[in-house]
Amino acid sequence: MTDTDTDDVLLVRGGTPLEGEITVRGAKNLVPKAMVAALLGSGPSRLRNVPDIRDVRVVRGLLQLHGVTVRAGEEDGELVMDPSRVESAHVADIDAHAGSSRIPILFCGPLLHRLGHAFIPGLGGCDIGGRPVDFHFDVLRKFGARIDKRADGQYLEAPQRLQGCKIRLPYPSVGATEQVLLTAVLAEGLTELTNAAVEPEIEDLICVLQKMGAIISMDTDRTIRITGVDHLDGYTHRALPDRLESASWASAALATGGDILVRGAAQREMMTFLNVYRKVGGAFEVTDGGIRFRHPGGPLNSIALETDVHPGFQTDWQQPLVVALTQATGLSIVHETVYESRLGFTEALNQMGARIQLYRECLGGTPCRFGRRNFLHSAVVSGPTRLQGGELVIPDLRGGFSYLIAALAAEGTSRVHGIDLINRGYENFMEKLGRLGAKVERP
Ligand code: EPU
Repeated sequence: MTDTDTDDVLLVRGGTPLEGEITVRGAKNLVPKAMVAALLGSGPSRLRNVPDIRDVRVVRGLLQLHGVTVRAGEEDGELVMDPSRVESAHVADIDAHAGSSRIPILFCGPLLHRLGHAFIPGLGGCDIGGRPVDFHFDVLRKFGARIDKRADGQYLEAPQRLQGCKIRLPYPSVGATEQVLLTAVLAEGLTELTNAAVEPEIEDLICVLQKMGAIISMDTDRTIRITGVDHLDGYTHRALPDRLESASWASAALATGGDILVRGAAQREMMTFLNVYRKVGGAFEVTDGGIRFRHPGGPLNSIALETDVHPGFQTDWQQPLVVALTQATGLSIVHETVYESRLGFTEALNQMGARIQLYRECLGGTPCRFGRRNFLHSAVVSGPTRLQGGELVIPDLRGGFSYLIAALAAEGTSRVHGIDLINRGYENFMEKLGRLGAKVERP
């Protein structure tokens, strides 16, 4: 795929309900981490249900730079990773991946175990807030790593075997919890992590590590205990389905008045989303192979919504659903408590005819960490509003998909710029749009 200007623009003719079937594969927020876990094994690992998305390609490239052989397995979507000869990579080669994703930071623990040192370039990922990595480095220091911050990135060293420790996260960060898991499994002794994130993708990563030989227990109070072991084997694992992509298509069905069967979508990981979907007035049927999402006709209901860590309403579900809320009758309130700047995408929706007002206060829910810090992190959406096609520039992954939904729901034609960013997390989205009857074309 090229990134030339024309290739990066999509013309969307709105007004057609999306109807049909699509399939989602493994979760973007699990698969790259399970690939990093393969570095810890003494033998090959097989990961199944791997989507062809940019984040997977970035991690594959980084693994290969470190001597891991990565090849396709017999099954479609299967990757076989052999880490028997892990070696140091050249800083310049690793640096070529700077800014591409946030996953490289998770290489720290496994590389410290395998090589005694690691280099982490500047990170990428979506611009939805400051996205600091202070928790990650605090955690690694506790295990005994030495960290030297230089202009081109972070240089890490483990002078001796990393040691299990007690850690309390200031916030249940997904990435920092994964950092602890990937480091503690081969550290010496017990690690006790409190205030951990417990997202389904984390549970699935724990399953991967347990298959490799790790000893990990999870309590109901966000405590995870890991007993370090001396040796881990490879694993065979089928990645859990992408509940974030599934919800994006569900919101697309609602906003366009459509009907989409999302094959692969799983109810268990989507319970919180499904409850909200039903309150808004969306209909869904859980089938053996997936979930069918549809607009049942008639008006949609306004709601009060607060994003939170799992089992709360996932922040990545928020942006696509807000587009559907522009079609609901009355005032909906959205309080974003995970990222301080994940509502900026609404400005473009307003230019299309939506009526969304942002607030610095914590509206409609529990006061959060952003309330007194001057961030526009609450929104009031008044609806229903007719959306008109417009000129849209994609700001981040989920915001970008939301613009696609808005353009598909709008009257007239939209030009959506920066479309390639969607390939970071949505496999074959152009083909899926085509299959659902969307009128989209490259100019
Ligand atoms: N945070 C810190 N310091 C840190 C780490 C996090 O202050 O060192 C803060 C963040 O700034 C944020 C909050 O903690 O306000 C939560 O961040 P978290 O670490 O949980 O997020 P992440 O691991 O960077 C993953 C997903 C995100 C998803 C979040 C929350 C991946 C690659 N990314 O990010 O997914 O929103 O967890 O569930 O797994 C997406 O898929 O579009 C996406 C952004």
